[in-house]
Amino acid sequence: MIDRRTDPDDCALAAASGAPAETACATGRDDLVNRLGPLFVHYLFSAGKTVHIHDLTNHAVEVALSRLQKTLRELGETEGRVTVAVSTDLLSINDARIVVDAQSMGPVLYLINEMKKRKVEEIDFSPEVTVAELGSFLQIFFSEPSEVDVFGELTRKLSDAGVAGIRLSEWIERAKYLRDAKVNKQEVREESNRVMSRAIMFMGEVMLAMEQRRPIQLHKASRITQQIADIIRTDESILVGLASIKDYDEYTFSHSVNVSVLSMLIADRMGLHKSDTAQIGIAALLHDVGKTQIPQTILNKPDSLTAEEWQLMERHPMLGVLELSRTRSLRTIADSLFVSLQHHLLYNGKGYPVKPTPWELHPFNHIITIADIFDAMTTPRVYRQQTLTPDRALRLIARKSGEMFDPLVAKVFIRTMGVYPVGTVVKLDTGEHAVVTRQNEHSRLMHRPVVALLREDGLPGDKVDVAELAGGGSTYRRTIVESVHDRHYEAQKANLFIMK
Ligand SMILES: [Fe+2]
Ligand SMILES: [Fe+2]
Repeated sequence: MIDRRTDPDDCALAAASGAPAETACATGRDDLVNRLGPLFVHYLFSAGKTVHIHDLTNHAVEVALSRLQKTLRELGETEGRVTVAVSTDLLSINDARIVVDAQSMGPVLYLINEMKKRKVEEIDFSPEVTVAELGSFLQIFFSEPSEVDVFGELTRKLSDAGVAGIRLSEWIERAKYLRDAKVNKQEVREESNRVMSRAIMFMGEVMLAMEQRRPIQLHKASRITQQIADIIRTDESILVGLASIKDYDEYTFSHSVNVSVLSMLIADRMGLHKSDTAQIGIAALLHDVGKTQIPQTILNKPDSLTAEEWQLMERHPMLGVLELSRTRSLRTIADSLFVSLQHHLLYNGKGYPVKPTPWELHPFNHIITIADIFDAMTTPRVYRQQTLTPDRALRLIARKSGEMFDPLVAKVFIRTMGVYPVGTVVKLDTGEHAVVTRQNEHSRLMHRPVVALLREDGLPGDKVDVAELAGGGSTYRRTIVESVHDRHYEAQKANLFIMK
């Protein structure tokens, strides 16, 4: 009933790459989704109908709900979370598309229709969800959809009812920003925050899936990167600002998300097609997954690593390839496999893993390496207290262009980020401190961005344009003197970009 997503080529590639014995191909993991997926949809459909007619104490309801929960648990044993997703007119469970036949047509079409009516793109079930939660969820989900803010109303009701094990994702009209010439700034701000938290949450799920040797749900990654691509084509300032805030989440999660945002930004400004930009975003999200196989004691060691520890650390690119090869469709993830393997290899061929003959580097790699190193240089870690301010990191990239970094990519990155990237804390000639919030639209005024003044009392100050002239004359009202290390201003800076 379900389309087999793992084709023979993928299995051959998995075997050739030395994938672990328990890959999707070897275990028949897909068979389980093939078998139980349609059943799960059917039970969801019938339990929804039953709950609509009877109350939750009714015997028929109890039977329908426990049948649904049992199937969910069974699927969850090998899959982890179970996600029902709609894309155009298809329904899928954990990346496996449900092929509609005479028997499943009714439930599948019904579910697609009901999800669309409520602007829901994904229903994401934790395998630990209780029967009571399932009951409340179905009651709320299948009740008459509200006329205004249907999705918001639904999520509010679910939260009020204490349904914590089931998450909904909103249906996003693709490229809505591109169509709408007069974009509402607040909307971009909200969407930037939403997509960053989704991306961080996704990275959490990826790491957990890796630890539990379960497949990654790739459609979630592509959904996130498509949303990032939409925002980047409208106004990237908030996203870059959010990426500049350090220490607000677990390092590997936020690092991977930051690298993804910055890589996609470069790809877009280089004029790459939107689908390539989204693929780069996915590869960047997954570039460090091999680190899940490195002990935390090594990853977070404050002192320098011993020779043996380094040897292990240098294996994370290859370990990433092995981890990613458990994914359902290797064809979709081919670019990510290359990037995982090569992301510590530089333009001049130096880096690791070492190979007797020079590597032919994947084109995405040149982009992701710059984003990766930029984020690492600007983020403090237990073993790297000394970080660079974003503008200094950019200058270093410019200096190493053509040696460590592809010159064209480096040029685009520097042009895009400006002299003082969004999120940089600067000192002005007036003695004030400020955070860069937006680049100047004119390239000759790259060093004069829009900034938010930082007040001594910690409250957000006014936004001022550093390109503003004093009293209509020919001198500037303010000029940036230098960038400063921003630890002291981190909370204030976060307030500017993060919505509470
Ligand atoms: Fe890495
Ligand atoms: Fe990295």
